[in-house]
Amino acid sequence: MKITFLGHGYVGLVTATVFADLGNTVHVIGHTKDKIDNLNKGIIPIYEPGLSEVVQRNIKSKRLFFTLDYSPYIQESDIVFIAVGTPPKKNGEADLTTVFEVAEKIGKNLSGFTVVATKSTVPVGTNKKVKEIISKTKPEKAEFEVASVPEFLREGSAIGDTLNPDRIIIGTESKKAEALLVELHKPIDGHFVLTNLETAEMIKYASNSFLAVKISFANAIAKLSELTGADGIKVLEGVGLDKRVGKEFLQPGAGYGGSCFPKDVKALISIAKGYGYKFALLEEVEAINRNSRNDIVRKAEKLLGTFKNKKISVLGLAFKSNTDDMRDAPSIDIINMLKEKKAFVQAYDPQAMNNAKKIISGIEFCEDIHHTVQDANLLIVLTEWNEFKEIDLREVKKLMKTPLIIDGRNIYDSEKLKKMGFTYLGVGR
Ligand code: UGA
Repeated sequence: MKITFLGHGYVGLVTATVFADLGNTVHVIGHTKDKIDNLNKGIIPIYEPGLSEVVQRNIKSKRLFFTLDYSPYIQESDIVFIAVGTPPKKNGEADLTTVFEVAEKIGKNLSGFTVVATKSTVPVGTNKKVKEIISKTKPEKAEFEVASVPEFLREGSAIGDTLNPDRIIIGTESKKAEALLVELHKPIDGHFVLTNLETAEMIKYASNSFLAVKISFANAIAKLSELTGADGIKVLEGVGLDKRVGKEFLQPGAGYGGSCFPKDVKALISIAKGYGYKFALLEEVEAINRNSRNDIVRKAEKLLGTFKNKKISVLGLAFKSNTDDMRDAPSIDIINMLKEKKAFVQAYDPQAMNNAKKIISGIEFCEDIHHTVQDANLLIVLTEWNEFKEIDLREVKKLMKTPLIIDGRNIYDSEKLKKMGFTYLGVGR
C-alpha cells in the first residue's frame, strides 16, 4: 500500500518505519528542512533502541522517504496518517492547532479515494472536526473517509510495541476505510477492536489515564507502607499477582513523567470538565504524582538535614530508561527543588544529557558515573538504566563522602546495600 505520515515524532517515525518494513511504500512529511535532510540520511532526532537501523534499512530499500512536500504523495496515498504533536495548553486542553493545519493541507491535496487516519492523541470529537475541515478544502471530485487509529507504543520499546501490540483500535464510520486499515495492519499481531470514532478517541485517553491511576495507586500504597512498616514492594507484588489487577505498572518510584501520561491525564480532566463532569479521581492521581517527586526531596532532607554546602549526585535524568526524552521528567522538578534549597547538584544520564542541558541549569553535568558520585554527600537514582543497576557499589561507596542513597526507582537490593554500610532509602520499603 502507499501511505503517508504527517509528523515524524515518536509515533509518526516509528509507525511509518514499521509499515515500510512490512513492505509498504511510506512517505513521511515534515516541515523543517534540516530535520528532513537528516532523516533522509538515516540520522534520527531521538534515541530509540533499534530504530536507526530499521530506518536506514528501509531508506536503502526505497520504501521509506522523508519530504517537505505534500504533493504528489497525498494524491498517491491509499491512507494518510496524521501523527503530529498535540501538546498541552496552559489549561490542560490538548492544542490541536497542528492537527487542523495539516488536515487543511491534506484536504487541498486529495485525489481519488483516501482514508485519513489520526494517530495523534486527540480529544473526543476531533476527528469529526478533521472531517469537516477536509470536506471544505478538498477538490470536488476527491473522496475520503476519516478514522481514529490511536497508538500505544512506549518510548524505549517502540518498535517491539508497534509490531506486537496488545490491541489495534480502528474507529471509523466507514466500512471501506475499516477494511483498508484492517488490511494494512494484518501482518501485525494484535487483537482488533473495530469501533466508531468517538470510542477509539476515548480508548486512548482512558488507557493512559488508567495506567497513571495504577502508578499513583502504587505510589500511595508505597507511601502508606513506609508509614506503617509494611514492605510496599511485597504488598504491590501480592496485589499485582491477582490477574484482575495485573502486575504491570505497579512499580512505585519518583512518579510518572514523559510526554504522554502527564499530558493525557490533564487533557482527560479538561475534556470531562467541558462536559460538566469533575474527574476528581484523576485530579488526585496528579496530586499523588506531584507528591512522589516531593517525597524524594523530603527523604533527602531527612538524611542530610540542611542542603547548604552539600553535594548531591543524581543518576538518571530521562523520564524512563532507554530514552533521551526529558519531557516532564521527575528529575527536572526534583533537581529544581534541591537547587532552591541550596544543594550543589551533579548529574549524569547515559543518553539524555544534551536534552537535559537545554532544560536544567545551575548544576554540574558529569561525564560518567564515577565523576558524578565523587565526594557526594548523597546519591539519588531517578532513572532505572541498566548501567546503574550494574555499577560497582563498593567503588561508589569509596568515592562518596557519606554513603547515603535514595533509590527513586528501587533498582538496588536494600539489604545488600545496608550490609555494605550504605544508609538506603527506596520507595515503599
Ligand atoms: C505511555 C504508554 O505506556 C503507551 O502505551 C502510550 O502509547 C504512550 O504513553 C503514549 O501515549 O504515546 P511512555 O510514556 O513512552 O508510554 O512510557 P511508559 O513506559 O508508559 O512510562 C511512563 C512513565 O511512568 C515513566 O516516567 C515511568 O517511569 C513511569 N512508570 C511506569 C512508573 O513510575 N511505574 C510503573 O510501574 C510504570
